[in-house]
Amino acid sequence: MSEFTPRYLADYQVSAFTIATIDLTFELDDTATKVTSVMSVKRQGSGNKPLILDGEHLILLSVKVDDRLLSANDYYLSDTGLEIPVQSDEFVLTIITEINPRDNTALEGLFKSGDAFCSQCEAEGFRRITYYLDRPDVMAVFTSKVIADKGKYPYLLSNGNKIASGELDNGKHFVQWHDPFPKPCYLFALVAGDFDLLQDSYVTSENREVVLEIFVDKGNLAKAEHAMASLKHAMAWDEETFSLAYDLDIYMIVAVDFFNMGAMENKGLNVFNSKYVLADTESATDVDYYNIEAVIAHEYFHNWTGNRVTCRDWFQLSLKEGLTVFRDQQFSGDMNSKTVSRIQNVRILRSQQFAEDAGPMAHPIRPEKVMEMNNFYTLTVYEKGSEVIRMIHTLLGAEGFAKGMALYFERFDGMAVTCDDFVNAMADASGTDLNQFKRWYSQSGTPYLKVRESFDPQTNVYRLTISQHNQAGDLSETQRCLHIPVKIELIDADSGIGQQQLLELTEAEQSWSFEHYQAKPVVAFLEDFSAPVKVDFEQTDLALEVLMLAASDGFCRWDAGQKLLSRYLHKLVLEPGYELPASLNTIFNKILQQDSDPAFTAEQLTLPAFGEVVDQIHQVDPLALVTALKTLKTFLAEGLQEQLAACYQNCREKTDLSHQQAIGNRALKNTCLSYLAVLPGADAMVAAQLGNAANMTDTLAALNASAVNNLAAFDRQMSAFESKWHDTSLVMDKWFTINAGLNSEDIFERLAALLEHPLFCIKNPNRARALIGAFVSANPQYFHCQTGRGYQFLAEQIKRLNEINPQVASRLITPLIQYKEYDLLRQQLMLEQLKGLRALPQLSKDLLEKLDATLN
Ligand code: ARG
Ligand code: ZN
Repeated sequence: MSEFTPRYLADYQVSAFTIATIDLTFELDDTATKVTSVMSVKRQGSGNKPLILDGEHLILLSVKVDDRLLSANDYYLSDTGLEIPVQSDEFVLTIITEINPRDNTALEGLFKSGDAFCSQCEAEGFRRITYYLDRPDVMAVFTSKVIADKGKYPYLLSNGNKIASGELDNGKHFVQWHDPFPKPCYLFALVAGDFDLLQDSYVTSENREVVLEIFVDKGNLAKAEHAMASLKHAMAWDEETFSLAYDLDIYMIVAVDFFNMGAMENKGLNVFNSKYVLADTESATDVDYYNIEAVIAHEYFHNWTGNRVTCRDWFQLSLKEGLTVFRDQQFSGDMNSKTVSRIQNVRILRSQQFAEDAGPMAHPIRPEKVMEMNNFYTLTVYEKGSEVIRMIHTLLGAEGFAKGMALYFERFDGMAVTCDDFVNAMADASGTDLNQFKRWYSQSGTPYLKVRESFDPQTNVYRLTISQHNQAGDLSETQRCLHIPVKIELIDADSGIGQQQLLELTEAEQSWSFEHYQAKPVVAFLEDFSAPVKVDFEQTDLALEVLMLAASDGFCRWDAGQKLLSRYLHKLVLEPGYELPASLNTIFNKILQQDSDPAFTAEQLTLPAFGEVVDQIHQVDPLALVTALKTLKTFLAEGLQEQLAACYQNCREKTDLSHQQAIGNRALKNTCLSYLAVLPGADAMVAAQLGNAANMTDTLAALNASAVNNLAAFDRQMSAFESKWHDTSLVMDKWFTINAGLNSEDIFERLAALLEHPLFCIKNPNRARALIGAFVSANPQYFHCQTGRGYQFLAEQIKRLNEINPQVASRLITPLIQYKEYDLLRQQLMLEQLKGLRALPQLSKDLLEKLDATLN
């Protein structure tokens, strides 16, 4: 079947036709929405190729070319599209289709989220609305008229500016929108519903007054304030940082509960997962606040990096996503603690992206082969993509990078372009040769650097040698060597004075010499995580301890501690009775005693995540790792019990803190709690925190401690929480998540009961992820249990989701396809489930692509 064949970047061809304008009319109905599309179509180039439009899950009602109504003999209709053999080079095409939003559980195209209609077209959802040239390099001016019942749907929204509205018969009304900026159809959006509306305005640096509107479910108005403030901060930041101002008179955001992803940057009308809009201190955590600010900014930044300049084809996705993630990370770093933000980026990369890049779905940030595009909205395209942009920023400097951005917009505003176009603009504007650097776009896998050092006390010369490798071996053929910026600091052992330097590694192996050192300096390697690589560098515990306290770069201080902790986790995994040295307590006590930046201290005290360590140990026994993590945590908790308790108490008593300080204070307090809670007799402490908690951050930290340590009061605490938050969907997601993380032998009976809970709904992606996804990622002890029951549970849910929502199913399968990370027993158990899934009838393209990549 044609829909199941992969597409290749190398096969890109300019579209035979283009569409300059499209005039849409939607007559909304739950099960039979009528979509009328009037397009001006024009042939590009010569020849007389037929017009081939994409379309799926559509009922075709009629097709007209100019004034001629076509009959079924005049075209070819298939499951994936409509082919019309037209002779003319320019014509008006009118197509009427019918769609069924109510039964659209895949949440792609037009669907219902609760009582509202809402759309999601990226990547290829527009073809579920009408027949069209559904590719990003076809850019049209959209006019959209939405007709619906006025009582049920008082707000009818689409892209651009409102140009007409009025009353119709039978209690209906209409609104018509016009977006003057030509755009690909993936940026089209439609929303209809009854909402509360938060309104504000912003005057841009170009003196344009912009109306800002956030639409939320009734009763949630106060919860949109933080999103609104974040939006205004993002608008100001982009003006200051890149001189980029908003371009329409209105910017709308709608929050919906049913959404496959975080949010979507549709021109002038962002649609958001309500998780990334709604917050108040009672119901949202500090992390929620942080994420809302980041996602609001991300979608706003897309208006330039994505919408004004878009992708030529979907292989170029990182053109807009890598760049926009980089922009939102820089923004978050400026709004919050830069170092802590950076640490979070690196944790995600190391615990998830590295695994993706080592697994069967590994792909370069610009993939070359795609079967289902939705499978490529990945950590690689987004997060590694952002790291690649960050490296350009490092190589060019902030000023050179800003010049590159300016040139990029000068050259490509209003166009659909490629990753190479972007890199060329950066190179040309700054006069930097980035040709070798471009290999980052076509090579997959995480490179690793081997570092060797030597010191000659005779000549006082310190020498650093770095070689680059990949999973397969040496990157020795010059051809494949990457251009890698390595920021380092050499710390003089005596004076503690550091010397910072940017090294550019371009060859398989290079050495650098540094003179006038009386003794061997200690190296802080890869400052600020200047490249997305693994580092193989044997530094002594002592050197790491020096770095933890003395490196200028916060990332390196943190990273040295992580390296030390990982080192002992490895030992514990490989030798279960291994005795941990007291020196660990000494150094982490020093960390605990620093009181300059509690948020940072909390990061330094946090153990590497399960997924991070999995990535470091070949075919790890997951339960041995679970035990190692517990052992290490208990060792530190016992060794530092008094100090942790004192710090905890001290944090609790702190008052008069600024907003940012309070967040850091909570982070440190709750990190202490997570240690103390592993010790016997923690029940009272956890209960007290729960009883006194004035915000969701403290409440969840306590409940989580209760779940992870299976405290006696867990069930009571959870039912009290449930009674309180029963009606708040985003908070109930948290309740399901905590339940899924319970460390108890009856977890599978509990999971079965939770699936039957009246508030569980597998059709809601947030809810499905809150239970199923959380079990898989936060409960390694039972997910990886020897019987294989954890894998079986996951496979059963994936099987259900395959038919309901393939995108969600396809995300959840990740740990199974990465089976090679684990020991042979797990490999075999996981393979069994994978084969079972592969044999499903009606396997979605999403799962098929991943299963075939894994099993073949
Ligand atoms: N472009 C959206 C974002 O900012 C995400 C769209 C995801 N689409 C998908 N099919 N998974 O980042
Ligand atoms: Zn994005």
